Amino acid sequence: MVLVDKLIFFVLISFVYSNTSPEEEQGVKYANKCEVCKILAIELESRLDETGKSSDIIETGYSVDDVKPKKKKEYKKSELRLIESLDGVCNRILEYNIHKERDDSTRFAKGMSQTFQTLHGLVDKGVKVELGIPYELWDSPSAEITKLKTQCETLLEENESDIENWYFNHQGKESLKKYLCQDRALKNDDKACLAEQKKGDTGKTKKPKKKNEL
Ligand SMILES: *[C@@H]1O[C@H](CO)[C@@H](O)[C@H](O)[C@H]1NC(C)=O
Repeated sequence: MVLVDKLIFFVLISFVYSNTSPEEEQGVKYANKCEVCKILAIELESRLDETGKSSDIIETGYSVDDVKPKKKKEYKKSELRLIESLDGVCNRILEYNIHKERDDSTRFAKGMSQTFQTLHGLVDKGVKVELGIPYELWDSPSAEITKLKTQCETLLEENESDIENWYFNHQGKESLKKYLCQDRALKNDDKACLAEQKKGDTGKTKKPKKKNEL
């Protein structure tokens, strides 16, 4: 009697794109300007949400002789909060993955793509999956994601004054997506991505459980 404790399959995955640029032939589709701006706006607003709950009062200015009182300011409205929120905001992009099952701007999303959830699920069941890259590298950021982080940093550098102006004068009245992306950075560019919404599956944030944990 033959005991088979592991069923072995070879799964060949090829991401086929019908587009014709050389990068896209290899399945690499970098973020366009609209997508970069949209993602930065989402991430910065979410960071500001986290820090906006504080009701701390901070003291600013130097008082050498302690005669002049230091200025007191709400942290929520301070430059400090802006600086702290901008600092490292583009690093958050590394939490994103490409979800190749979608092809609009929502292909950039946090969490593991359905494709990779499925593949990890197969591996956990003992299936041998060949992707052409070592297993350890499956979850490392793809070329699109590392480039997206750089694109995010460039946008921050180039258009920091618009962001500052929004923070001090328009925050709470207008979304950053509209103020920065729609009305400024993308003035003469395609803005279609700004309206795109995630539909259906939104990806999970956790890896599928290992077989022995089920
Ligand atoms: C910054 O904004 C200007 C318009 O104000 C735009 O032309 C430029 O492309 C933007 N930079 C980036 C990286 O999107």
